[in-house]
Amino acid sequence: MIEVLVISKKVVADDICLFELAGLKGAPLPPFSAGAHIDVELPEGITRQYSLCNHPDENHRYQIAVLKDPFSRGGSLAMHKQINEGDRLQISEPRNHFPLAHEAKRSLLFAGGIGITPILCMAERLAHIGANFELHYCTRTPAKTAFIEHIKASEFADQVHFHFDDGNATQKLDAASLLATPDSNTHVYVCGPGGFMEYILNTAKELNWSEKQLHREYFSADPVDNTNDGRFEVKISSTGQIVEIPADKTILEVLEKLDIEISFSCESGVCGTCLTRILEGIPDHRDVFLTEEEQAKNDQFTPCCSRAKSELLILDI
Ligand code: FES
Repeated sequence: MIEVLVISKKVVADDICLFELAGLKGAPLPPFSAGAHIDVELPEGITRQYSLCNHPDENHRYQIAVLKDPFSRGGSLAMHKQINEGDRLQISEPRNHFPLAHEAKRSLLFAGGIGITPILCMAERLAHIGANFELHYCTRTPAKTAFIEHIKASEFADQVHFHFDDGNATQKLDAASLLATPDSNTHVYVCGPGGFMEYILNTAKELNWSEKQLHREYFSADPVDNTNDGRFEVKISSTGQIVEIPADKTILEVLEKLDIEISFSCESGVCGTCLTRILEGIPDHRDVFLTEEEQAKNDQFTPCCSRAKSELLILDI
């Protein structure tokens, strides 16, 4: 982990705070690429992932923007209420599960609400290298649009299209026309609330875009209905130990109690930190980290939230 200082905290839109983090005594921060995120350790043992939204060439600061989420499991409220300028935070080195595809000749970026954070960083990078791109940024109202002034004043302002829910019909996002012609040289990136992402990704798939050209980053998983969950067993391949997972516990919770270590962070199927190989058995995928194709292989899963369709899963741990 790295210790950083919160050098500023500003409200940049309704319910959205921008935090600027710097190394202690001005020490440079590890480099990152567009689409990267950091883990932030918060009070009460909570760890949350936030995308870096500043220019990836900067090493004197990281910027993260946090939406105060009324359904927060504690992370966004803690950031808004308890973290202030002058505080120190423990963060991880940046990791990137949402990188730009370097072979793309053109990039179509779609951001919904706070999903702008990794997308803005991508736009900064693409503008910097003179790449061909277009950004579509959807929010409810201009007041809820983080970075609106920054984007309007940027060198790539004319490549950005704002779409407001409260605006007139002509400015609404029409994904079907933007994605009407699949083009193997164009890559599509999407980040935002679940419904927004489904709209873009399903439209692209219906219009025959290849999965390889579609890139996504979820920042939360939709709640899952657990009412029909049952018990099953997992076998630890290195020791042969068989462990029962009751209906009301996750695999991660049970294994943690037994001191069987699996790294984890978000505990909600978003970050991929707990990704574990499966040697036998069929998982019941509940994450948003793996793509549909990756899930269909059934050779890895996220034990923080996913379960089993078979009675036994043999885990490669
Ligand atoms: Fe994040 Fe499992 S801990 S996906």
